[in-house]
Amino acid sequence: MLQTAFQHLKIKGKHLLPIVQGGMGVGVSAHRLAGSVASLGGVGTISSVDLRRHHADLMAQSGKSRDRALIDRVNLIALDREIKAAKAIASGAGVVAVNIMRAVSEYANYVKQACASGAEAVVCGAGLPLDLPELTADHPNIAIIPILSDVRGIALILKKWMRKNRLPDAIVIENPRYAAGHLGAARPEDVNNPNFAFPAVLDGTRELFKELNIERENIPLITAGGIHTHEQVRELIGMGADAVQLGTAFAVTEEGDAHINFKRVLAEARPEDIVTFMSVAGLPARGVKTEWLANYLEKEAKLQSKAKQKPCEVGFDCLQQCGLRDGIAKSGQFCIDTRLAFAMNGDVKRGLFFRGSEKLPFGSEIRSVRELIEYLLNGVLPAKREQGAGFAQVVPV
Ligand SMILES: Cc1cc2nc3c(=O)[nH]c(=O)nc-3n(C[C@H](O)[C@H](O)[C@H](O)COP(=O)(O)O)c2cc1C
Repeated sequence: MLQTAFQHLKIKGKHLLPIVQGGMGVGVSAHRLAGSVASLGGVGTISSVDLRRHHADLMAQSGKSRDRALIDRVNLIALDREIKAAKAIASGAGVVAVNIMRAVSEYANYVKQACASGAEAVVCGAGLPLDLPELTADHPNIAIIPILSDVRGIALILKKWMRKNRLPDAIVIENPRYAAGHLGAARPEDVNNPNFAFPAVLDGTRELFKELNIERENIPLITAGGIHTHEQVRELIGMGADAVQLGTAFAVTEEGDAHINFKRVLAEARPEDIVTFMSVAGLPARGVKTEWLANYLEKEAKLQSKAKQKPCEVGFDCLQQCGLRDGIAKSGQFCIDTRLAFAMNGDVKRGLFFRGSEKLPFGSEIRSVRELIEYLLNGVLPAKREQGAGFAQVVPV
């Protein structure tokens, strides 16, 4: 395990580095990234959604199919393979977690598969995972961790789970003002609400623990969103966080599972390129305004005015509620699975590239997971490279 002066994060009795790599779909955090983070003693998180896209044999079976049962079946096989491969890289170090979004149709089956395949934690956001205690009841050793953004949401989950005699093994507190991907606010204009600020949520949650008589349980609080310097890590831990979770900075590491073009788009985005918009999942989301997103946003109002119910374009029905399929005018009107898959495969023109709002620790350089974690924990910047080294070109796909 890497050395740190910070206290270890404790989950299910395991001592870990206070660094969590957030789950990133589609295919951005698969076995290589999650396994690499865990191998150094942190929490590495596989995103469960549509992992077949990393497996040529499973894509050969299902890539052109519109048979949802087949697609779901091969995705569970892919999840099983990815968990086992990540655990092989980790060799017993750290924690290999699986991120499962509540908003996804196959949520319950992904949770069950993660448990059966030996994941050590299940981390759930994009909705309230009220039934997670029941879904994992046969696997008491798996940690269950909700992702929430404000004290209200945390109170709701705690009270519901306590009625089932279960507490979370940690809570990820994600600030929608800075985070990437789907955001825990109702509308894009709500993301800056001061109720989401880390000091307010950390203090409010500690108060809540007292009110509920669970302050002695020491449920770790993991802050996420916009973290990109060692000083921020120190400040947040000083403020009462037990660990930090990062997404964007891990997505662009050498070990990140997406195509190099994906990493380049995120690493080279300027602040003015990063936008918040409505996703088909009915939540605001943050990403890079690439060619496709800019065109889509120009046409969004027109598409929304014509929204009407229709069958899923790709036969996958990935979301429980999809703005495009279900004709929900206030939600996004695009196929999110297709767009995220383009991005993961490095298609700069057609992809949707989720990204947080803040700078990256190493600017536009692609560095290793080890260098990133060393910097976050110890403030040690990696040695400078020769000019031009590490700047892979965007590759046509
Ligand atoms: C490309 C990308 C995809 C993401 N996909 C998911 C996801 O599928 N599920 C999820 O809970 N969070 C997702 N996130 C959010 C991250 O797990 C993390 O909490 C967030 O990015 C933290 O903010 P940061 O990027 O500023 O570090 C994604 C983030 C990125 C950059």
